[in-house]
Amino acid sequence: MGDSDTIFLKRFSMVIAVLVAITVVIIVIAVNTTGGVDPNANPSRLTLADKRTLPVGAVRTELSAADLAAAAPVEPVDPADIDGGAVYAQVCQACHMTGAAGAPVPGTDLWAERAMKGLEQLAANAINGINAMPAKGGRMDLSDAEVTAAVEHMLGQ
Ligand code: HEC
Repeated sequence: MGDSDTIFLKRFSMVIAVLVAITVVIIVIAVNTTGGVDPNANPSRLTLADKRTLPVGAVRTELSAADLAAAAPVEPVDPADIDGGAVYAQVCQACHMTGAAGAPVPGTDLWAERAMKGLEQLAANAINGINAMPAKGGRMDLSDAEVTAAVEHMLGQ
């Protein structure tokens, strides 16, 4: 090794030593002024990290009360609660009050003849339709119980 190499190595090591010393000083200053690196020091950073690393899907093992309420089957309507008179007025009356298309008008002899069939048969025919009488009076959104209640109302007239 020549002299110039030795001098170079000496100076180079000195430069490295000075840089290392500066680095250590900077680390010491940084740790002392910030209190070190505490991952819990910034909770929002933590929650963000949690959010970003959440699995895409998760299995729910618990149901809230609201979930249970939403999943509960619809309470069946008590037939006794159905207002047959209201159904009749809304849907059936249009034909059955005027006798349109030969609809038997409750309270007439023509109706009395029909009434002989009894509630069960009349209700079945009203639900399924008979001749010019459309099924459920054309209101397919009515339940069988609602149509039956309307027939009961007609029989009571
Ligand atoms: C579009 C007119 C129309 C509407 C609306 C209508 N009906 Fe009728 N309905 C008729 C006609 C016409 C007949 C007679 C059918 C026949 O010739 O047997 C009839 C007959 C009936 C009968 C007698 C069935 C039988 O077995 O003799 C019942 C009961 C009846 N309707 C109930 C209802 C009820 C309940 C509603 C309402 C939900 C309703 N109708 C709505 C036209 C209608």
